[in-house]
Amino acid sequence: MAGSRFLTGLACPRCRAAFPVEARFDGCPHCGRAAPVNLVPVYDEAAQREAFRREALADRPPTMWRYAEMLPAAADGAVTLGEGFTPLLAAERMGARLGVPRLWLKDESRNPTWSFKDRLASVAISMARELGASVIGSSSSGNAGAAAAAYAARAGLPCVVLTFEGAAGAMMTQMRAYGAMVVATRDKADRWRLLERCVRELGWYPTTPYFGPPVGSNAYGVDGYKTLAYEIVEQLGWRAPDWCVLPVAYGDALAGMARGFEDLHRLGIIPAVPRLVAAEIYGSLAAADKAGADIVGAVEKDHDTVAVSIGTLQSTWQALHALRRSRGLAVRVGDADLMALQAELAAAEGVYAEPSSVVPLAAVRALRAQGTIAEDDTVVTLVTATGLKDADATARRAGAIPVIGGDLDTLFDTIGSVYGFAARH
Ligand SMILES: Cc1ncc(COP(=O)(O)O)c(C=O)c1O
Ligand SMILES: [Zn+2]
Repeated sequence: MAGSRFLTGLACPRCRAAFPVEARFDGCPHCGRAAPVNLVPVYDEAAQREAFRREALADRPPTMWRYAEMLPAAADGAVTLGEGFTPLLAAERMGARLGVPRLWLKDESRNPTWSFKDRLASVAISMARELGASVIGSSSSGNAGAAAAAYAARAGLPCVVLTFEGAAGAMMTQMRAYGAMVVATRDKADRWRLLERCVRELGWYPTTPYFGPPVGSNAYGVDGYKTLAYEIVEQLGWRAPDWCVLPVAYGDALAGMARGFEDLHRLGIIPAVPRLVAAEIYGSLAAADKAGADIVGAVEKDHDTVAVSIGTLQSTWQALHALRRSRGLAVRVGDADLMALQAELAAAEGVYAEPSSVVPLAAVRALRAQGTIAEDDTVVTLVTATGLKDADATARRAGAIPVIGGDLDTLFDTIGSVYGFAARH
């Protein structure tokens, strides 16, 4: 059977229907498309409890595969580029500005393709190989496609990425650099229609959502995000933070992280799971939560966003329920100060984050201002990708670099007038 010796099958977290370990990526057939729910991997928990020992971790590699017993794919033979075990950085200067001195940044820009999606891609494509997949299919114009392309290359599997006409930027270049076959459809909806047919009719192995309403990404891959929770707790000295705040689109990372914290709680390692916050642009989770809904509906697009990576109008069932289980909340963040926040974070902490990756900081500021987050709470925010993924957005705001001759006084004047720094004293 495919998968690690700990994996026993898949299950629907909503109706509890059980399935064997197989290539099933269209959600729960019983709940159906009216209530789109992603399946979750199920494990032999007694065997996990036996194998997952803190003391054993000291000798493990500094990658997310150090927690192999909690992952669906077998560690030997995993498709890996050394993803995970990214730094958890104390961010006192930024924390002071937001009113939360105990702020930490989980810097996922340090992953092999410079985003957190490597955790999903590594597990998903490891399982692809175990399940005998012959083609990796992805529908993405961003980090998910870049990660799928890299790990498919690492696995020696062909990868087709469907995107839409006009998609551009570093991530599109990145996909092609890894040898992915990138094709854009004129009509945005066609990329899902085509990928769905390729999955159904040709057995392509999808790593991303490929039909609507979305159930979420590859069910095995999402469990790769559980390692974010294990790492954060290990890096904090086996303690859970009070809050974890992350930028959310489909909420794969949110759902995966929630399960990771729940694992640690079940194993008796942490007394309680942290409260999770979904920082969103269009607010589909906030709306569903407010309405007390079971499923997440689509919301209207009322503005364009610089946080393009999380510009989805409809999140998922498992994201909503992960929030509720953790007593968390969804916060809708406007676009107004995102680029300023990106600059502020980079200058204060040396961490250059994608615009979507500073959305959690805006959420923290709002929650602190309204008193929901207390001053002495420990808060971890996820920096999901590097700012270099969309450097043009930063360059537009920064403006032109001043050009001068060889005169020292002019240099001092320019530093003063352009950057406000008194070089002469
Ligand atoms: C940089 C970045 N942050 C956050 C997200 C949101 O991820 P998820 O769909 O897991 O909520 C994405 C993904 O699409 C992303 O590319
Ligand atoms: Zn179901």
